[in-house]
Amino acid sequence: MEKVTRRTISFSASFIFFIFSSTIIFLAGKSSAKFSHDGENNVTALFLFGDSFLDAGNNNYINTTTLDQANFPPYGQTFFGLPTGRFSDGRLISDFIAEYANLPLIPPFLEPGNSQKKLYGVNFASAGAGALVETFQGSVINLRTQLEHYKKVERLWRTRFGKEESKKRISRAVYLISIGSNDYSSLFLTNQSLPISMSQHVDIVIGNMTTFIHEIYKIGGRKLGFLNVPDLGCFPALRILQPNNDSCLRDASRLANMHNRALTNLLFKMQRQVKGFKFSLFDMNKSLRLRMQHPSKFGFKEGEEACCGTGKWRGVFSCGGKRIVKEYKLCENPKDYIFWDSLHLTQNTYNQFANLIWNGGHKSDSLVVGPYNINKLFQIP
Ligand SMILES: *[C@@H]1O[C@H](CO)[C@@H](O)[C@H](O)[C@H]1NC(C)=O
Ligand SMILES: *[C@@H]1O[C@H](CO)[C@@H](O)[C@H](O)[C@H]1NC(C)=O
Ligand SMILES: *[C@@H]1O[C@H](CO)[C@@H](O)[C@H](O)[C@H]1NC(C)=O
Ligand SMILES: *[C@@H]1O[C@H](CO)[C@@H](O)[C@H](O)[C@H]1NC(C)=O
Ligand SMILES: *[C@@H]1O[C@H](CO)[C@@H](O)[C@H](O)[C@H]1NC(C)=O
Ligand SMILES: *[C@@H]1O[C@H](CO)[C@@H](O)[C@H](O)[C@H]1NC(C)=O
Repeated sequence: MEKVTRRTISFSASFIFFIFSSTIIFLAGKSSAKFSHDGENNVTALFLFGDSFLDAGNNNYINTTTLDQANFPPYGQTFFGLPTGRFSDGRLISDFIAEYANLPLIPPFLEPGNSQKKLYGVNFASAGAGALVETFQGSVINLRTQLEHYKKVERLWRTRFGKEESKKRISRAVYLISIGSNDYSSLFLTNQSLPISMSQHVDIVIGNMTTFIHEIYKIGGRKLGFLNVPDLGCFPALRILQPNNDSCLRDASRLANMHNRALTNLLFKMQRQVKGFKFSLFDMNKSLRLRMQHPSKFGFKEGEEACCGTGKWRGVFSCGGKRIVKEYKLCENPKDYIFWDSLHLTQNTYNQFANLIWNGGHKSDSLVVGPYNINKLFQIP
């Protein structure tokens, strides 16, 4: 077994105030501690589930189309120097989190080989995936299948470490989940009309997320981190669906809003009702909106147009020229942009988000994460 080098990150967090929808204030407390993996017998693993905000390349290995793949240039040009399947110019939130947690890059479940690396965690996420089986069905690994893959890893760990030790590792691990965006954006991108009301649709998505969370808990997961859904209607790919109107697409944003409110409620309810359940929720919507409204405050030059794509706001999903539209434009400096392509963010944006997710929860960062940040979740034994 590979040795985890013993390194420490000093950590210091002041009071974490957490306000969502200005109704909840949660005090997580003052602490000052060190995070370390205490040798190979005490690794705190990282499991990743969900969609393209976290997928590090699972879709390279499934039978799908280039609409759900990013394994061609210029994807990956800034950091890896080659396309990896990540929907960005470089690293994703999960790559930065792994780094901060002193873990190697977490490999995609479907990547062949790498059985050693998979002892530090596994990435099950799949670009295009939603909480519902119907979302981009046939082209993605849906959340239920991702859970089946996780169960396989858990069985492998039991064989490898023994029942007792495996259980400890499963409960010590941190789970990061980004899901929901595709359950809503797919309706607009594929021009479907909803046969049910918007709030019923949100209920079904949240219902399936609830089932998923309970399953993770039943297997032994305790420390879960979530990204909420960004203001989808303001993404270039959705904005261009509304011709002769520069506003964000109202219904897409409304769905995201309803989802985010329901997700916050669900997580606080579970924290009250489910013993040992601890969560971190990152307000990706608010963090993104703040940057879109004041790009220069956060070091960006462009907050609306994507770096890579075609058409108004480069809202046509053509980055790389391997999808339906073959020509595309590419900006010179992706780090000046918030959006990489019409549906995804640049490494620079993801880096800022990862810093907040890892260490945020302070008044100075607009309290976009809580009740725990991910650093704190890693520290909980
Ligand atoms: C991949 O999907 C296409 C279209 O859905 C199908 O025709 C083809 O047989 C599939 N290939 C494999 C290897 O499953
Ligand atoms: C989407 O569907 C509506 C009716 O459901 C139709 O009027 C409209 O033209 C369609 N738009 C596109 C881009 O296909
Ligand atoms: C999960 O989603 C399916 C549709 O994919 C739906 O029929 C089912 O009711 C949902 N489950 C819950 C618990 O909401
Ligand atoms: C543009 O779209 C927004 C939101 O979808 C809507 O509220 C507004 O009335 C539209 N404006 C025009 C001029 O159609
Ligand atoms: C996103 O955040 C903005 C600004 O904080 C807020 O006005 C909006 O309602 C939020 N939307 C969603 C989708 O949660
Ligand atoms: C294992 O690591 C956790 C942090 O994840 C720490 O709290 C705990 O004390 C460590 N256990 C041992 C035996 O060193």
